[in-house]
Amino acid sequence: MPGSVESSVSEPWWKTAVFYQIYPRSFADGNGDGIGDLAGIADRLDHLVDLGIDAVWLSPFYESPMRDFGYDISDHCAVDPIFGSMEDFDRVLAGLHERGIKLIVDFVPNHVSSDHAWFVEAQSDPSSDKRNWFVWADPEFDDEGVRRPPTNWTASFTEESAWEWDPSPEDPSSGQYYLHLFLPSQPDVNWQDPDLEAAQHDVLRFWLDRGVDGFRMDVLNAIGKDPEPRDVPESIVGIPQVVLVHHDTAMPLIRRIRDTVDAAGDTFIIGEIVTGDIEVQASYQGAGDGVHASVNFASVWTPWERDAWADLLANTEAGYPFGGPTWPSYVLSNHDNPRHRTRYGGHESRARAAAILLLSVRGIPFLYAGEELGLEDATIPPDRVVDPGGRDGCRAPIPWTGDGDHGWGPGAWLPFPPDATIRNVDAQKTGDVTMYDLYRSVLAARRASPALQVGSLDLVDLHPEVLSFRRRHGEDERTVHVNFGDEVVELDTPSATLVVSSSGATEGTFDGHLPGGAAVVVRP
Ligand code: NOJ
Ligand code: CA
Repeated sequence: MPGSVESSVSEPWWKTAVFYQIYPRSFADGNGDGIGDLAGIADRLDHLVDLGIDAVWLSPFYESPMRDFGYDISDHCAVDPIFGSMEDFDRVLAGLHERGIKLIVDFVPNHVSSDHAWFVEAQSDPSSDKRNWFVWADPEFDDEGVRRPPTNWTASFTEESAWEWDPSPEDPSSGQYYLHLFLPSQPDVNWQDPDLEAAQHDVLRFWLDRGVDGFRMDVLNAIGKDPEPRDVPESIVGIPQVVLVHHDTAMPLIRRIRDTVDAAGDTFIIGEIVTGDIEVQASYQGAGDGVHASVNFASVWTPWERDAWADLLANTEAGYPFGGPTWPSYVLSNHDNPRHRTRYGGHESRARAAAILLLSVRGIPFLYAGEELGLEDATIPPDRVVDPGGRDGCRAPIPWTGDGDHGWGPGAWLPFPPDATIRNVDAQKTGDVTMYDLYRSVLAARRASPALQVGSLDLVDLHPEVLSFRRRHGEDERTVHVNFGDEVVELDTPSATLVVSSSGATEGTFDGHLPGGAAVVVRP
């Protein structure tokens, strides 16, 4: 039975955990208004137990005008009414803990909503203490006397200047620019101001006191900015590049964040460090005094190609000095990118093989709700686009049932993903050898194997179309083969016992025969 075998590895909980991301707007609707909410999550927790994940990352549910769907916070310590109440949040947290599942929540340290009281005060009263909680700059003037921002930095979403002109409340002919690496309605805060830093630590403590097990920290590297804002080369657009090189400014701030989070006990921080460079990501873990892990963007950006994945695994193995304090993560899908099944061309076989790959590499896997149903992105007609970054497709509501509303109120906030009459939780739980069954089996196989959870990883070169690697921990050993090609291959490898195959099989003998697009986990 999946789930009946527990492994005996003694490691921090987060190292062996499989995380499951819930984007609250898209997960489940508790009150029938068509928008996912905390009550909807609280009612569906048994799904997570049945699936077999260990921890949930919950995207923002805080008070927000929702211009960036919650990543623009107007009150860090309040639940937005669209998502419910603090009691609903407590119900989610208690319900998860009763089921032995950890909860990490989003911490958005780089910016707030322009509706946040901090910014309202800073903007309306330049003499206020809060003024320096944001990043202001005087205008510069070109030869014709035309006003321009202090640097050429561009913002995400718009690719226009990251500096917004803000006329002085007393004298509109003068003023200052404020910095926003995202929307103009998401002003960046100034972590060099000690009072702002203290206020952010209060936010962390507020949620730790309520009992959360840690945080996913949004664009965390962006809090360490160039102390002397200066132009970047023209080829560099968008946010991360502007701040990437300021590790030295960010790290002392991150170390103090770690201290605050550590003080609450057995907690975990995963930083969104926006870079595909594995070594830069790993560097934010410091000497065990930075983040515990960083979001692995390289795994999102790697195409479904054997050599690309071999390189990613090799680079990750080389970039993380295992045995020291660093540990990688892996992720294929989230709320910011097209789902991996969509990126990989929609094929069922690839989505199945990807489940095996993601859950058998060395690092913390992050699943995105719905991938266990094999969901693809929804097609969003132009008149239903709501996100300024065009990310609606991957945020389509999770279909729970096969009927027209799929368990949502009439008029869900976005269209459903394709094939929701079969790719829904009810159908997947009752059908034969579904994607859901496969995820359950692979999760159980991982949980039962110290080698898969924490073992070493060695690439094995057996066939140009097949990614093969061996995982070992003590006596425990697993080998994984993923056939990226369409043709059947016969691998020259000793006969082994099948643990799980992308076809759904969980027993039998593996003699090296691997159909096109298939993946297997085997043991000696
Ligand atoms: C990364 C988040 O994942 C994304 O959804 C958001 O728009 C930006 N950071 C800004 O907070
Ligand atoms: Ca709702």
